[in-house]
Amino acid sequence: MAKPVLISGIQPTGPLHFGNYLGALKNFVALQNSGKYRCYFFVADLHALTENPSAKDLEKNILSLASDFLAAGLDPKKSIIFQQSQIEELQELKWVLSTLTPVSELMRMTAFKEKVLQAIKPIDGEKISKKRFEEIVEEANFGLAEYPILMTADILIFGGQYVPVGHDQLQHLEFARTLVRKFNYKFGQTFVEPKELLTATPRVMSLDDPTKKMSKSRPGGCLFINDSPELIGKKIRIAVTDSGSDIKYDPQNKAAISNLLMIYSELSGLTISEIEAEFAGKGYADFKKELADVVIEYFEPFRARRAKLKSAAVKKILMDGSKKAHEIAKKKMLAIKKKIGLVL
Ligand code: ADP
Ligand code: TRP
Repeated sequence: MAKPVLISGIQPTGPLHFGNYLGALKNFVALQNSGKYRCYFFVADLHALTENPSAKDLEKNILSLASDFLAAGLDPKKSIIFQQSQIEELQELKWVLSTLTPVSELMRMTAFKEKVLQAIKPIDGEKISKKRFEEIVEEANFGLAEYPILMTADILIFGGQYVPVGHDQLQHLEFARTLVRKFNYKFGQTFVEPKELLTATPRVMSLDDPTKKMSKSRPGGCLFINDSPELIGKKIRIAVTDSGSDIKYDPQNKAAISNLLMIYSELSGLTISEIEAEFAGKGYADFKKELADVVIEYFEPFRARRAKLKSAAVKKILMDGSKKAHEIAKKKMLAIKKKIGLVL
């Protein structure tokens, strides 16, 4: 029997932080190497356009993200690694899917609301009235609203069954499943409902505020996977901690140290209780120093591999992967068009 299809993408919107790595990229590599799936991983450059980057930044970020993919261990011999914008059929499928989507469903998406609000940079805790929110929505670019439809198209055009993502993408996957059901009901069984695959750390929290998720939109709280060893040491040293001094996993009462413990555990391979035992009777400063060492050592091979990558070689890998993905998408789109009555 053919192996199930697994697919995921990341937007090239700037350097990857530990949330992106522990919630997504590290898992991409493990899933690829498990040999259990036919894997597709892509640079979601069309999604990144919703942030209106300059052409120069977008180009740089596409190459940088593809380099991160490769340095982290994604391998073009095992996975199809490609650039989303090379797959023209996505536009066609997105259009078809958009005709099955009520506008109100798009307006309800949490990610949409957050992105729209981000544009006006509200102060933490500031209340926005319903009327003001409606005004802001009217100004938002339409791509932000269509975002989940394009994401659904990404998954369905390759027959994606499993989608490794972080916690913040769950609502988008629920949306995708709803669309699959609608499509299949109207046109007959065509797509399978995609399922998310979460890691043990689907929501890494910010270093400067453990009540918020680590996110590119709040760079102050991010540890980036390309940060230098010195900067990693410094950021961990000044990361906020909780009251008390025990190194104990207790997300309710000790959110900051619990977040750091999860990072330690994921990168060292030790369990939380093993780490707690190691630091019994020691304080935050000792723990942070060790954590910085663990992080710096863990990313040593990543930094070495990344430094050796040449941009021409990275581009070629993306182009070759995109060609393969495009061939598959073309066939699938033709089959979809037949189903919906567009092929005479
Ligand atoms: P950001 O929210 O920083 O802009 P992206 O939307 O580009 O990040 O996310 C890329 C991948 O990383 C997605 O699968 C997303 O769910 C995951 N991810 C993002 N932030 C976190 C986090 N703090 N913890 C775990 N996973 C995350
Ligand atoms: N929306 C995802 C994010 O913000 C990126 C993405 C686009 C994606 N298309 C996808 C993820 C398809 C999984 C599958 O991170």
